[in-house]
Amino acid sequence: MRQQNDLPLKTMELPLAESWKIKMVEPIRTSTRSEREQWIKDAHYNLFQLPSDQVYIDLLTDSGTGAMSDRQWAALMMGDESYAGSRSFFELRDVVRRLTGFEYVIPTHQGRAAENVLFSYLVHEGDVVPGNSHFDTTKGHIESRHAKAVDCTVDAARDTQLELPFKGNVDTGKLDAVLAKYGDKVSFIIVTITNNTAGGQPVSMQNLREVRAVADKYGKRVILDSARFAENAYFIKTREEGYADKTIKEITREMFSYADGMTMSAKKDGIVNMGGFIATRHEDWYEGAKNFCIPFEGYLTYGGMNGRDMAALAVGLDENTEFDNLATRIRQVEYLAARLDEFGIPYQRPAGGHAIFVDASLVLTKVPKEEFPAQTLAIELYKEAGVRGCEIGYLLADRDPVTRENRFGGLDLLRLCIPRRVYTNNHMDVIAVALKNVYDRRDSITRGYEITWEAELMRHFTVRLKPL
Ligand code: F0G
Repeated sequence: MRQQNDLPLKTMELPLAESWKIKMVEPIRTSTRSEREQWIKDAHYNLFQLPSDQVYIDLLTDSGTGAMSDRQWAALMMGDESYAGSRSFFELRDVVRRLTGFEYVIPTHQGRAAENVLFSYLVHEGDVVPGNSHFDTTKGHIESRHAKAVDCTVDAARDTQLELPFKGNVDTGKLDAVLAKYGDKVSFIIVTITNNTAGGQPVSMQNLREVRAVADKYGKRVILDSARFAENAYFIKTREEGYADKTIKEITREMFSYADGMTMSAKKDGIVNMGGFIATRHEDWYEGAKNFCIPFEGYLTYGGMNGRDMAALAVGLDENTEFDNLATRIRQVEYLAARLDEFGIPYQRPAGGHAIFVDASLVLTKVPKEEFPAQTLAIELYKEAGVRGCEIGYLLADRDPVTRENRFGGLDLLRLCIPRRVYTNNHMDVIAVALKNVYDRRDSITRGYEITWEAELMRHFTVRLKPL
């Protein structure tokens, strides 16, 4: 008889847990379905209009909703609130220089403010700005200057069921054609990393290199909309050949080497509640932007941010360009994706960096597009469990500025956006099961909503709806 000791030892592989432990908690509470039905009616069926107390799990955005680390809270106490020459500004500038190689840094109060300041200098009436699925504020800042945002995203991004590693990429053929057609009218090229609107999908290093080559061919400059640049670097490390052994910081440095400047919403990968900046290698851009920063945002060494917030941001940027922090975050998004796979719920594949984008057109197939299927799904999920997602679809797309017709050309998605370091996988389970319950009765949902009031631009924040 063999002794137990003789058996070959089977060591189980240790599971990977979070790269942090929790020091402070914030209570959240559940509600009843009838409460939620009344609340969403009172909010005119617009989830932005709900007080947060009426939300159990808030997946509206990953912007400004992350949990800061103990080191960030400590940095906050060390903030230098000097009007000019704040030490906290120099800390921030030095981190940005290290991560990007960009010499000039202008803080702003958030990402859209960075767009406003830089585009005030760069974008003029009649201009054209090609890019990959411009974010809505980016598009807003282009269109409000009577210029045109031309989307050159790869066609693969439109097929949510296609599983490709870099669905956020720019189609360089489309880009070349736009540059050839519009020539001098093109102010710059903007590449969004990761591509939020296409589902948090990354852009490959190879693609950034190719965009640079096309830009050089036409003598154009490239801006990276960098809200989720660290998550993009994680995907390059884990998915692109030749990067597995590089650190995230080495990868970010290379990514930015192919660009001329960046706009940044620090509320995402900077893991602060408010903040942003512009950075560039070009003195002329810096000089041009300076003139708009001072009247719109504030003096150049604070530009709309508190000293303490710049200090916390400097730490946040440094921490969130470490692999373990990013791996914890993105693996949670993948966990939610795996639960949805169990239930057969269709979403933009593969799972994005910051969110799952459920394809409403494949779920609520009986709701006509004119009745906003993704918004309908968002409302159903809220009523089911108090989970607040966000429509990234036909409401967000606004109307065509010329024809005033609704733009039904893009995808109609429900974004379940995961705040950084905030929820546990138990929360992910609640979200998945709530969505499954809605999914199981999808065929009984045949009507959506109609608009009773809307703003001219960025209507989704304030739109009022009525069930049909
Ligand atoms: N660019 C991208 C890619 C964004 O996702 C955002 C904001 C901005 C720019 C604007 O930055 O909010 O700091 O002014 N996205 C948030 C979201 C609001 O929920 O996706 P901001």
